[in-house]
Amino acid sequence: MVIDQGPIDQDHQTLVRQVNELHTATSEGRGQDIVARLLEELVRDTVEHIRREEHFMETIGYPQLAQHKAGHDNFVAELRELQEKFAAGSITVAPRLSMLLRDWLSLHIRRYDKDIAVFLRKQKREAARTPRSRA
Ligand SMILES: [Fe+2]
Ligand SMILES: [Fe+2]
Repeated sequence: MVIDQGPIDQDHQTLVRQVNELHTATSEGRGQDIVARLLEELVRDTVEHIRREEHFMETIGYPQLAQHKAGHDNFVAELRELQEKFAAGSITVAPRLSMLLRDWLSLHIRRYDKDIAVFLRKQKREAARTPRSRA
């Protein structure tokens, strides 16, 4: 899925890789310390990515910014709740968390982030069609 041919796409690739690593670690029943480290990195990078993506949507004047942002906010709230449970010692939370991340990320990128790319293409087409002012 190509969005900006730049940092947004790089973030998505990194996040998908991290999510797969976390998923492998939890399904293999690796230790809490390894899972905790992967989880911490993933949450940090997810939050950073979301910030970058929202800024990008602002700069291009994306019309569905508010809805898209609401989706991000809900996800981060859920993520933090599970992360707190995990930090409180509930290792059984890890597989749930890893699944939530995997499902949310792939669905969100394929459905909602894709709409940003669709909007960008439309914007480009319209810019190409607009006649230049004859001075
Ligand atoms: Fe997004
Ligand atoms: Fe994204």
